Order: sequence, then C-alpha cells, then structure tokens
Amino acid sequence: MSHHLFVDYSGIEAPPAAPGQFLLMDEPQHSRYRKPLVGKFTVRRMRLLTERVEQVTAEHLDAMEKAGPPVDLVTAFAKPIPAIMICELLGVPYEDRGSFQGNIDKFMDGETSDEDLIAAYTAVQRYLAELVAAKRANPTDDVLSDLTDSDLTDEELQGMALVLPAAGFDTTSNMLALGTFALLRYLSVATTFYRVALEDVDLGGVTIKAGTAVIASLNTANRDPERFADPHALDLRGEYSGHVAFGHGIHQCLGQQLARVEMRVAFPALVGRFPTLRPAVPPEEVALRPETADIYGVKSLPVTWDV
Ligand code: HEM
Repeated sequence: MSHHLFVDYSGIEAPPAAPGQFLLMDEPQHSRYRKPLVGKFTVRRMRLLTERVEQVTAEHLDAMEKAGPPVDLVTAFAKPIPAIMICELLGVPYEDRGSFQGNIDKFMDGETSDEDLIAAYTAVQRYLAELVAAKRANPTDDVLSDLTDSDLTDEELQGMALVLPAAGFDTTSNMLALGTFALLRYLSVATTFYRVALEDVDLGGVTIKAGTAVIASLNTANRDPERFADPHALDLRGEYSGHVAFGHGIHQCLGQQLARVEMRVAFPALVGRFPTLRPAVPPEEVALRPETADIYGVKSLPVTWDV
C-alpha cells in the first residue's frame, strides 16, 4: 500500500532554513543543533520531570473542579500543561508566558491572517533575542542557559529556542485534547510531512527522481493494514509499536519522551479525577482545526461531568 503522493518540484528552490532551525535542515548542519539537545530529552531526564508534570496536571484538575462543569478542556487543561513544561525547560520566566504562548499559538493554528502571523513571529523573535541575551548574562537552570556554554551564536540559539516551543506545545496540547476527544473518534496531530529527494531514491518499488517533493502521510502509515491488525478500530489495549506518529529518521521527534510523560500522566489523571467526563456538546459540533493546519487539533472541547 502506498502512503505517498509525488509532486514534481524540480527547479523550485526552497529558502534556506534560518540558523538554528534544525527541523528544516539536512545533515551535517542538522546535527550541529540537534546533538547538544539530545541529552536534555533522554528517557531518564524526562522521567525525572514526571513529578513536575503530575503537579502541574493536578493543579489544573483542581482548577477545573473548582470552576465546575462545563469547561473548555483545551484552555483549562490541554494547553497549559505542555506550555508550562516547555517554558520551564527553556527558561521562559513566568510573567512572560502568557504573551509568549499566545504568539506561538497564532502561528500554529492555521487560521491566522498573514499580517497577524508576521506580527506574532516578529514578537517571538524579538522576545527570544532578549531571552538569549538574558541567559548569557545570567544563566539559570534551564536548557537555553546550558546552551549558552557552547560555540553557538546568539542567532543560532534564537533559532533553536524557537524550534522547541513551536514543536513542543502545540503538538502535545492538541494531542491531549484530541486524545480525549478520540475516546469518541481517534485522531493524531502530526499528519503529513514533506520531503524533497536530493537524489534518485528507490522506495517500495517506485523511483522518486531527484528534485521531486514527496508528501508522506503519517496517518495513513499508522493505519496500514499490512502492519496493524484492524487498523481503523480504536483499541486502547492494542499493540501499536512501530507507529510513526513521532516521525522517522534524522528528524524523529526530539521531544517524544517529554510528550509521552505528559500524556502518560495527564490522560489517567483527567479520567481518574472526572470518571464521568463527557463532551458537553454533540461530537459533530466540536470545533476541529482546518486540515491545512500544520498540526491538527481541537480548537475547543467543551466537557462536562457529574458533580
Ligand atoms: C504528541 C506530541 C508530539 C508529536 C505527535 C510530535 C511529532 C513530531 C514529528 C512527526 C516530528 C518529525 C517532523 C519531520 O520529520 O519533519 C517531530 C519533530 C520534532 N519534535 Fe515533536 N512531537 C510531539 C511533541 C514534541 C515535544 C513535547 C517536543 C519538545 C520540545 C518536540 C520537539 C520536536 C523537535 C525539536 C523536532 C525536530 C527534530 C529534528 O528536526 O531533529 N515534539 N515531532
């Protein structure tokens, strides 16, 4: 079964990736940035963060309980938990988080106008330039401060500091909301990826010519009937090792252990606290992101429970 769509992009030059934005880079450039980060995201280090994830999750569940139903699960639960974890990891001070997260949200939601997108991007870049300078002057206990102790330039650090929240909040927060919604329909956030072949490649009996863009669907691959038994059924006890929700190859998700810790803690805590949790609106009225968004997700998920 084919999971690919081929588009001839030969002759079209992609703009070079900005310094530090390794998600968009090939080797050997990519490794210069990914390598110093790998040690910050190991299974062991992420396990050490579990307690903090539990604490942050419990605080948000307390607030939901206090507010009483119905609440929007996206704003009350799914967004703040990953956002706090990434901000703490990166060293974004508490008072700056609201505006920082708000701007990142704008360029991830797939619906922001070009003008607002540019404004949000510029504000984040300006903020990150100041943050890098602040960490150089006064290093604190966080990933960005640690990175200042290297030969990476300010511009490179800024680019790396942008990749983490861009890749780390929106994905996990939408996965928490979609995952909860998926108890009705199961869904995934990172759906399609693009690659351009640098040379002719033979793959699955097809030759992809150099310069051809390939759109790979992670969702289709994750429902491959040759790989998974009954792939379209939602089976919470199913065996899904070998799925590609976190990508594959050199760009495979750097933050997957953090995402796993967050989801492993947050899903059971949510249904443990509110065993009668259910949508407060009919499922077909839940506002989903447009399929053109880079990261798929739920805009708001009104939920309710018995008190
Ligand atoms: C459920 C949550 C998440 C999903 C489904 C997800 C998915 C993915 C996927 C599919 C890729 C590969 C992109 C490509 O090949 O072009 C990726 C890359 C990446 N992810 Fe995640 N991600 C999640 C959470 C996170 C978190 C919490 C972080 C924390 C910082 C993170 C950081 C990154 C980074 C830095 C990359 C780029 C790696 C590279 O280019 O070497 N992600 N992610």
